[in-house]
Amino acid sequence: MRVVMVGAECAPFAKVGGLGDFIQGLARALAATGVEVQVLLPYYRGLLPEPFVSRLEPLDVAVSIPLDGAALECTCWRLRAEGLDCVLIDPAGDWFRRPHVYGEPDDGLRFALFARAADALLRRPGWRPDIIHCHDWQSAQLPALQWAVTDAGEPPVRVCLTLHNLAHQGLIEPAVLARLGVDVGTLLGPGPLDDPAAPGRANLLRGAIHCADFVNTVSPRYAWEVLHTGQGMGLQGVLQAHVDKFGGILNGIDDALWDPRTDPLIPVHYGPDSLSLKARNGEALRRRLGLRARAAPILAVVSRLDAQKGVELILGGIDSALALGCQVVLLGAAPDAAVAARFAAKREALADCPDAHLELAFDEGLAHLIYAGADMILVPSRYEPCGLTQLIAMRYGTVPLVRRVGGLADTVVDANHSDRPVGERNGYLFEAQTTEAVHAVLGRAAWLWRHHPDHFDRLRDNGMRADHGWRRPAARYLDLYRGLLGA
Ligand code: ADP
Ligand code: GLC
Repeated sequence: MRVVMVGAECAPFAKVGGLGDFIQGLARALAATGVEVQVLLPYYRGLLPEPFVSRLEPLDVAVSIPLDGAALECTCWRLRAEGLDCVLIDPAGDWFRRPHVYGEPDDGLRFALFARAADALLRRPGWRPDIIHCHDWQSAQLPALQWAVTDAGEPPVRVCLTLHNLAHQGLIEPAVLARLGVDVGTLLGPGPLDDPAAPGRANLLRGAIHCADFVNTVSPRYAWEVLHTGQGMGLQGVLQAHVDKFGGILNGIDDALWDPRTDPLIPVHYGPDSLSLKARNGEALRRRLGLRARAAPILAVVSRLDAQKGVELILGGIDSALALGCQVVLLGAAPDAAVAARFAAKREALADCPDAHLELAFDEGLAHLIYAGADMILVPSRYEPCGLTQLIAMRYGTVPLVRRVGGLADTVVDANHSDRPVGERNGYLFEAQTTEAVHAVLGRAAWLWRHHPDHFDRLRDNGMRADHGWRRPAARYLDLYRGLLGA
């Protein structure tokens, strides 16, 4: 079986958040079962880490797509590294020669170009896969293109769509698609890309939900929430209409890459059988970030600083944690200027505090050290399709404190309030989106850390020993692909 993943991120080549981890982890896990998997990404010139640039092999398959009545040539590069087989699509011009993966004013056109080129490549002889697996709006044009134009004499390609974040749907002007020679008349007015909430614009994600053979979100609970709790962000109607081809599959993490026994980015290796060594990473973290040496739990936040992640509750949680005698480490990047300013002000206010450090950046190495060195991690999301930081934290013996929502609710079992056996309890949950609720949950966790460290270690141990690897979810995706192919 040949599967092609098409998306905007794949770690370690391009990562902004969990989408990068997801495509990396699922592709590696499927490849390990013998599936032929390829990942299609844009070639982000200037962002691809240097060691990988020298490993690019030019591919002898030029793809040309229409743009404004002329032909736009796209070079394709192959990158085989880190257990991944990627094809990087490189349209002529500066479309992907930008300082960021996302956030450019012409993102709609940039990713429409990428998806159009991916579609053209995957129709070339020898390139047709059995399954095209698309992710989020950046590749969401593909299911519609495959639906609109079938290649005569070829077996149909089956298309899956995974929804990682409904906040971004790819709302673009039909004129943008028309510039790319897309048959807008078939897709709009009325057609699958029509969005009653955005008349006159094309909604790529909506079209993809309509046209894909299977659609899923990344946890069962979020799949239910988007249908029934107002979290569908305008897409609940189209999802309900297609509920027979819709489901939730819980994400995994790559437990070979996220492993405190071997992680090259942390100073002291440890595992569930040598948990006491974890404290030495805490000391290293304090030294690196200038926190004073103290017998206090370290609360971490590692997050995109975005409204989704509960900006107010993160800021309130920092104050609560300090008031409760914890130390606090935050690592986060805020794409929105107003949110960035609020965290910069907080960092300023805490500049002389020996118990807090806010690092407002994206830093993969520091993230690993924080997972290894912290005692608890706070994830107070407003909504969370799955969430990987709580899974990674658990693998590193760091106890998650999370809002009971989406994938957080599917993966964290409360230490005190649960009907599940003690051996399955791994963290703390809270419900209300209030700073009081965050304060209460921090109080429960800090109390256990201080007064019953052996019980706290039990939570760490339960998290570390649980299987959150990709094997099980990859087997579910494989079953899904087989079902679609009638195999
Ligand atoms: P999302 O995809 O919504 O951002 P996830 O929890 O699924 O949330 O995944 C976040 C991923 O991004 C994790 O691998 C986390 O370690 C990483 N991450 C988030 N912010 C940063 C940062 N500032 N520096 C390094 N890694 C980060
Ligand atoms: C998205 C979601 C996050 C999920 C990740 C990977 O970015 O916000 O919850 O874990 O995708 O699926």
